[in-house]
Amino acid sequence: MKILITGSAGFIGFHLASLFLKKKHTVIGIDNLCKSYGVKVKKKRLSELRKQKNFKFYKKDLKFINQIKEKKIDYIIHLAAQAGVRLSQDKPELFINDNILNTVKLFEFAKKEGIKNVFYASSSSVYGNSNLYPSTEDININKPISIYGITKGCNEDLAYYYNYVYGINTIGFRFFTVYGPYGRPDMSIGIFFKALLNKEKISLFNNGNNYRDYTYVDDIVGQIYSCVLRTLKIKKYNKVFNIGGEKTIQIKKLLNLIEKISKRKTKVIFSKKNKLDPVKSLADNSQIKKFTNFKKSTSILEGLKKVYKSL
Ligand SMILES: NC(=O)c1ccc[n+]([C@@H]2O[C@H](COP(=O)([O-])OP(=O)(O)OC[C@H]3O[C@@H](n4cnc5c(N)ncnc54)[C@H](O)[C@@H]3O)[C@@H](O)[C@H]2O)c1
Repeated sequence: MKILITGSAGFIGFHLASLFLKKKHTVIGIDNLCKSYGVKVKKKRLSELRKQKNFKFYKKDLKFINQIKEKKIDYIIHLAAQAGVRLSQDKPELFINDNILNTVKLFEFAKKEGIKNVFYASSSSVYGNSNLYPSTEDININKPISIYGITKGCNEDLAYYYNYVYGINTIGFRFFTVYGPYGRPDMSIGIFFKALLNKEKISLFNNGNNYRDYTYVDDIVGQIYSCVLRTLKIKKYNKVFNIGGEKTIQIKKLLNLIEKISKRKTKVIFSKKNKLDPVKSLADNSQIKKFTNFKKSTSILEGLKKVYKSL
């Protein structure tokens, strides 16, 4: 198969492209290598992917996706986005542009090229202040608390529209805090490991009392790959699925685990709750597990040890 992955130099995009290449598929990657959290790690991921002969890369902004002259693309997996709740408060227009307008361009491209299958990244951030746990996909997502969450909810609406009007099959994935090797340096696990190794201070919002459902990246890409295999046998589909770890951990306990694994400690500053952060996230994965039968779930301890080993 030929798979177009947007955001292929990104964290999840890199792992997903690696899996498809390992399974001997052709991967077309597109990424603008924007400076969202530093280009160094993106280039490192890209240099790994470039070792594979079935990988072709376009360094391009998604707004120019029309310039891609690849024929017979079987699936688009759209992961390129501005990701990050806090940054979306400072740069709302950038998020609307990169996450909404570019998603329209992507669906228009699929329409023009006759590409029938589009998967895309949504986020647990769509649950905002709904406060129902574990979160199931049928919860009303009308209480967004970040511009980022709003853009992801809008992506789901766009997918519904392009499916209803043009018959493009879609699956949206509500990822719950993803971590793993080659991970994002701007997310908690990356920040904690770096701070401990460099003896820097760590700031914990809400005094470390928030809870998060962490999902190991191999479980994420394994589920997406299983969705591709499953949909090969279905003519029409339009779905939204959670993918989470289905366990939640208090952030100060997470830090304790990371301290134990790295055998280091550092100064912690406890600060007040950030309005943009929900106090808790916890996924219910029953829908996707029923769909794919993929049930692998890496424990947080096992996952953190793998991250530490990769540093
Ligand atoms: N990592 C998580 O915990 C998490 C959780 C929920 C949802 N998501 C979503 O999953 C997707 C992948 O996340 P990630 O953690 O790999 O993020 P990432 O930032 O590592 O990857 C996104 C990639 O998209 C690229 N990009 C951004 N704007 C672009 C544009 N206009 N044109 C071309 N490329 C562009 C970036 O350069 C980056 O490499 C994103 O859509 C994100 O919102 C991630």
